[in-house]
Amino acid sequence: MNIIPKPLHCVVKEHTIKLGKATKISGDFEQTKKFAKDILGNIDGGEGSELRFLTDEKVPHEGYVFICDKNSKVLTISASGEAGAFYGLMTLKQLLGNDDIIHCADIQDSPKYAYRGFMLDSARHFWSVEKIKQILDIMANLKMNIFHWHLTDDQGWRAEIKKYPLLTEKGCIRKDTPLSLKGYVQKKEPHDGVEYGKGLFYSQEEMKDIVAYAKERHIEVVPEVDMPGHMVAAISCYPNLSCDEKPAEVSNRWGVMDNICCCGKEDVYNFAKDIIDELCEIFTGRFFHIGGDEVPKSRWEKCPRCQAKIKELGLKNENALQGYFNNEIAKYLKSKGKRMIGWNEVLDAQDIMDNDIVAQWWVKRKGDKNEFAWMEKGGKLILSMSSYVYMDHPYNVRPLSKTYSLSAEKLGVMNDSNIFGMEIPQWTEYISKEQKLDMLTFARLIAFAEVCWTDSSKRNYKDFEGRLENMRDYFKTIKCNVCPQKIYRGKVYPKKYFTNALRWNLWRICPNYEFDEMLKMQNTQKN
Ligand code: ACM
Ligand code: ZN
Repeated sequence: MNIIPKPLHCVVKEHTIKLGKATKISGDFEQTKKFAKDILGNIDGGEGSELRFLTDEKVPHEGYVFICDKNSKVLTISASGEAGAFYGLMTLKQLLGNDDIIHCADIQDSPKYAYRGFMLDSARHFWSVEKIKQILDIMANLKMNIFHWHLTDDQGWRAEIKKYPLLTEKGCIRKDTPLSLKGYVQKKEPHDGVEYGKGLFYSQEEMKDIVAYAKERHIEVVPEVDMPGHMVAAISCYPNLSCDEKPAEVSNRWGVMDNICCCGKEDVYNFAKDIIDELCEIFTGRFFHIGGDEVPKSRWEKCPRCQAKIKELGLKNENALQGYFNNEIAKYLKSKGKRMIGWNEVLDAQDIMDNDIVAQWWVKRKGDKNEFAWMEKGGKLILSMSSYVYMDHPYNVRPLSKTYSLSAEKLGVMNDSNIFGMEIPQWTEYISKEQKLDMLTFARLIAFAEVCWTDSSKRNYKDFEGRLENMRDYFKTIKCNVCPQKIYRGKVYPKKYFTNALRWNLWRICPNYEFDEMLKMQNTQKN
C-alpha cells in the first residue's frame, strides 16, 4: 500500500470504497472530523458511504485501527485519542492520493517512538511563517510530532524578546554571508557581500501562531535557544554577556566560535532566565532545548569570573561549569513545568548532571562512552546522528538509503528503553531559498518519518523507494520540490571513483554542487 510511514500491520482487501463530499462523517473526535470534512470536501460524490471515528481505549497512544467494511460502505477509524484518530485520517489521505476511490485495507498501526522530530535552523537563514506551516502540514501527513525550532545562533537571533529589543533590532543582522569553506583556516572564505537579516525575525504573535497551527496537527514545537555557546548574535547586542565584554559583531563566519557567554556572571544566568520567561509563555509544550553544543572553554580558562565561580562552587573544571549552568537552567525550566533538552555535549558533565535532562546525540566522540554511560544510569537520549540524518549533507556522501537504515541497534544501543525518540535536523548555512530547502528536506524527511515510526525489522529500502516515488504527486500538488531519485541514490555525480573524503572536500569548497545537479536534472525531466 502507498502509505508512509509503513503501518505496523496491514491486510489489503480486494474491494474498494468511494468517498467524497457526500460521505457521512460520524462518531467521536471533533477536531479530526473537521480535517476529514476538509479533505473529503474537495472530492465529488461518495453518496451512501460513511467515515466513522470511534473511541477504543485499547488502541495504543497515537495508534489507530482502520477497518474498511465491504458490505456496509463504512470506513471506521478507531483510536484512544485525538492524535491516533488524526493519524488514521492521514493514512486515509495518503490512500486517497489524487483519487476518490480507496482500495481497502484493514490496518492496525502505532509508532515505534513517541518523539519523532524535525529541526529547522531559522537562525542562519530565515523561513517565512507560511513556509513553516507548509512543513508542519507535511510533517503531520508523515505522522511526525515534534518541530524543533533552532531560533538563535552566532549568525542571527530570530525570536522577539520584549525585554531585550536589541536582539531583533541588531542581533538579527549580519554583515554578509559566507559562500563556502574554501580558505576557511586562513579566514579567507568567500562572502556574498550582502547584508542579511534586517527585520527577519519572528514576532511573539507569529511564534504563537506557529505553535497553535502545529498543535492542531498534533505537533509540539520545541524552541531552541543555544547557550552558552553559539551566542555571538546576543553578545553583539549585549557585550556584558561575554567574558571580556568587548564589542562584537553578529558572526559572518560558519563554525564554532570561542566568544561564548561568561558562566561566571549572574547577568548571564538572569539573561537566560528572562528569555525563558518570555518564550515559555509562547511555547506551551513539555520541552525546551538549550543547545549546549560546541562550547570551547578557552575564554573561560582565562576569565577571572569563570575561574572564581569554579572555585566558589568547588567544581572540577570548565566542563563542570557548563554542567552547573545546565543544571541551573534545567532547574528553572522544571519550575515552569518544562523538561530540558541539550545536544550530547551536555553529557561532558554528566557526573553532576540533572538526570531529567534529555541529550540529543548528534556526534560521535571519544568512543561514545558518555552516551552509553548516560543510558546505563537511565538517562534518556534522542537519536540524531549526523552521519545518518543531517539533511544539509550531500547525498553523494550520505545517500538516502543510509538515512533509511538508521536504527538504535545500528548505533550499538540494544535497549530501546532509554531512547526517547529520533530527530532529523536541517541546518541552513548554505540554504537561503525555499527551492533548495525543499530539495534537501523532503526526501530525507519522508525516509526519516518511516525510520522513527516503523520498526527496522519491518522496513525495506527498495519497497520504501517505490512508495516515496509514488508520493511525488502529493508534493507536486503542493508545489514542493523533492530531490530526484538519481541524486538521492548518491551515485550519479561526481564520478563513481571519487572517495568519500573527496566528496566531502568538494562540498566544503562548493556546497551547491549537488543542488545545481538537482536543478539540471529537474529541468530536463519531462514532467
Ligand atoms: C550541531 O550540529 N552542532 C548540533
Ligand atoms: Zn567568564
